[in-house]
Parts: sequence; structure tokens; C-alpha cells
Amino acid sequence: MSGPAPAGTAGELLADLPASPAVWCSGLRKRYRRRTAVDGVSFTVGRGEVVGLLGPNGAGKTSVIKMLLDLVRPDAGEVLLLGRPATDPQARARVGYLPELFRYQPWLTAAEVLRLHVRLSGAAVPEAERRESLGLVGLADRAGDRVGGFSKGMQQRLGLAVALAARPELVVLDEPTSALDPVGRADVRDLLLSLRARGVAVLLNSHLIGEVERVCDRVVILDKGRVVAAGTLAELLGQRELRLRLDNVGPQAEARLAAAGQLDHSGDTFTVALPADPDPATVPDLVADLVGLGVRVHAVEPGRVSLEERLLSILREEHA
Ligand SMILES: Nc1ncnc2c1ncn2[C@@H]1O[C@H](COP(=O)(O)OP(=O)(O)O)[C@@H](O)[C@H]1O
Ligand SMILES: [Mg+2]
Repeated sequence: MSGPAPAGTAGELLADLPASPAVWCSGLRKRYRRRTAVDGVSFTVGRGEVVGLLGPNGAGKTSVIKMLLDLVRPDAGEVLLLGRPATDPQARARVGYLPELFRYQPWLTAAEVLRLHVRLSGAAVPEAERRESLGLVGLADRAGDRVGGFSKGMQQRLGLAVALAARPELVVLDEPTSALDPVGRADVRDLLLSLRARGVAVLLNSHLIGEVERVCDRVVILDKGRVVAAGTLAELLGQRELRLRLDNVGPQAEARLAAAGQLDHSGDTFTVALPADPDPATVPDLVADLVGLGVRVHAVEPGRVSLEERLLSILREEHA
């Protein structure tokens, strides 16, 4: 792009439009032989937004990511990356990608792997900045060592450096922390937060839900190739829980509990998922009714659902 657009031109009008999302996809579909891996997936990742893609093994997360990056051809659906078709090399040059499974040439050093990938991306990144990316992932003192001697965790760190090295506007990470120790995971968390602070968009697929919960602005939950839930953490976790320790609970009391919200029960502990914005009378009314029905109330405690619990309950509902 060159200088400011002349006044009153289409260029100026375009410049006034909000930036296109980092990722926009609609109706993505993919079958492998008779198995449908992805079945009508649509979502967006805004500029500078950190979005988590969650779901059980085989849900289609990696397939979605590969279709976004034009590594797998969708059977149907459309993708725009940074406002351009995913097939446009100009869009992909500004995307950093850490694949789920990868192997670098074992005879290259970490610095050489990085230089190779930066060259492939076509970006002009000076040597000092490349060294900085190795420093970011904690490999500064291993730059001259051959990748063949790296542990899986070190290779994953190098993969992250590769994904970050060419000044991407969007970073797509498929299981970036699967091989990392707790310190490495904390490092990745900090890295993600610093990317967000710099306005880089991130799409992240991880099994470590606690991690996702800490860094993501929004999550998209996939199951069997479909989006089963999506939203900000506040939207998804808005449901508050009520934990009650009770005895002498008859069928009527149990029905009363279930009427207050989705009910889980183990031993003498009953967990009710309250609606996002419960009426202030909800809890006292429930307790009064339970007492009226002969229930002995030992404890009533509020709790917030964790993303992990929420994810499990969404998937259980899907499978029921
Ligand atoms: N190249 C492939 N050939 C055949 N089946 C595939 C291929 N890639 C993925 N699948 C199937 O598609 C489904 C989704 O896989 P994947 O996208 O890897 O899920 P996830 O990353 O969520 O674990 C799985 O059933 C998987 O076996
Ligand atoms: Mg996967």
C-alpha cells in the first residue's frame, strides 16, 4: 500500500471501513471418504482478538484450521484471511502457523530453520529480530544447535518462533503446548498475551482448557464437525452455579431443584446451574421451598462454572 488515498476517492472510502476480520469463514464442510470431518462451520476472529477453538479429539479442529490456511480444500464454504481469499499468497504471508504435527530438517540449526521460514514467507526480517523471536520462546542460547538434538518441547518452542518470526497479523496455533512443561506453558500464555497487546489476532487450539480460559477473549466449541457453542467467556460462563448439600430429598424436592436450573447430583451434593442473570429471589425461594418439602439443608454455596465444566456439560448435552 502507498501513502494516504486522495480525497473523495474509493480509496478513501475503503480506508474508512473497519478493518476486515483476521479470519472469516462460512459454511466450511469437509468429508474424508465416507466420514464427515467438518459440517458447516462458520465463525470469525476479529483483529487483535484471541479465540480458542475447543472440542474433543476428532471434532474437526485441525481440519478447520487447515481449510482456513488453504492446506486442505473445503468441499464447501468460504474463507477470508485478513480480508483476502485464503488462496491469496498475500494474505498467507501475514499469517503465522504452528501445525499440530511437524518436523524440521534435523540437520539444520534453530537459527537456520527460522531463516528458511522467514525467507519462504517473503518478509524482510533482519537477523537481530529473528534472534529476538528465538529469545521470546526461550531458545536464545540454542540458536546454533541442530534441531535433530532438540526435545519435543524444544521443537515446539522453535515452531512457535517460526510462527511468530515474520511479523504476522494473524497467528494460528494448533496445539502449541502439547509437549511443553508447565513453565513452557506459562511462557506461551505470556507470549499470547503480548501478541494480543500488540494487536495480533490469534486462533488457538488447545486441550489445556485452563490455559484457553486464561488467555482467550472468545471460544468456539466444535463437536462432530459442527459449532455447538461460541461466545465470549462471559457469555459461556455467565451461568452461575449453586452447590447445595442436602439430605432427605424426595422426588418433589428433586423436581423443584431441577426447575431452578440444570441439575447435577452426586452423593448429598446437588449442583444447579442458574441462569446468567438470576432473579435475586431465586436462591432464597429455592431454599424456602426445599425446607417446606422436608429437605434438610446443610450448605448452600455459590460457584462459578469453569470453562472445563461448561465444555463438558455442553458436550454431554450434545451427546444425550
Ligand atoms: N487426511 C485425512 N484423511 C482421512 N480422515 C481424516 C483426515 N484428516 C482428518 N480426518 C478425520 O476427520 C476427523 C476430524 O479430524 P481432526 O480435524 O484432526 O480433528 P481434531 O483436530 O479436532 O482432533 C477425524 O475423524 C479424523 O479421523
Ligand atoms: Mg487436531
